[in-house]
Amino acid sequence: MSDVVTMDDLSNEEILSILDDSKRLIPVARGDVHLPLLEGKVLANMFYENSTRTRMSFETAMKRLGGSVLNFTSVGTSVAKGETLYDTMQMIDGYADIAVIRHPRQGAAQYSADAVDIPILNAGDGAGNHPTQTMLDLFTIMEAHGKIQGLNVVLVGDLRYGRTVHSLSHALIRFGARLTLVSPETLTMPDEIVRDLRSTGAEISESSDLSGSIPDADVIYMTRIQKERFPDEDEYTKVAGIYTLGSKDMHGAKDEMIVMHPLPRVGELHPSLDSTPHARYFQQAFNGVPTRMALLCRGLGVTIPKEVK
Ligand code: CP
Repeated sequence: MSDVVTMDDLSNEEILSILDDSKRLIPVARGDVHLPLLEGKVLANMFYENSTRTRMSFETAMKRLGGSVLNFTSVGTSVAKGETLYDTMQMIDGYADIAVIRHPRQGAAQYSADAVDIPILNAGDGAGNHPTQTMLDLFTIMEAHGKIQGLNVVLVGDLRYGRTVHSLSHALIRFGARLTLVSPETLTMPDEIVRDLRSTGAEISESSDLSGSIPDADVIYMTRIQKERFPDEDEYTKVAGIYTLGSKDMHGAKDEMIVMHPLPRVGELHPSLDSTPHARYFQQAFNGVPTRMALLCRGLGVTIPKEVK
């Protein structure tokens, strides 16, 4: 089974192997080494919702490995004429070897995976999951700390609707991290997810206090309060801008603490943070290229050489 719809589709061994492959692929991701492993293969990039990083890093990953990309958005296609997701996916099954899908509806990636034979990679389904983001997040943490076991990862912001933190929290627990969940009361992590995480025996604390969580943090994972996911704009206004970090907030932080963010940021990370040694979000966005290369190779059954040069 080569679909990746949630992190449950990958065993711990597979995750570690993908992270290992990703590391070796960095020179290819940068364009310093030519490695056309996916020559002749076609990726369908199916984006029913806006994206900069996920769409473009998948496209870069495919092209750097010699493959080609069909870019699909809901604007300018027959979606505007009322074509269903099911029918669209039947077309893609015939046009491409693998597909990446982002959709505003939770469950759309699983629905697509069930509808076609080609491998499906979930690039974000509503407030559900974003497993390929999790892979690049894990990679970024491993690059910084060399481990996940025992780290205190502080997840901040929109934990209710944030698919990045839904996927990431499960994966972090599987590798032995501690979680500190920081959010306003209206945006706490859904109860069923917290119950699931706690059922593994994981150490999880919940708080609404970001500044008090900084000194003990190994990773601070900031997220945007997502205006587009709120059913009521007044509710959004009450919490917009509630958490911000800038260079002045780093004084009590551990030297090796990193600040991550899936991006885009809309004010929660002050530009003064960018030049501090804690800022890791732009590197994190680049890490989408090697990790998505490794995921594309896995999906297409292509082995990455043990030595890349
Ligand atoms: N991190 C992330 O999913 O960014 P995009 O929405 O730009 O793809």
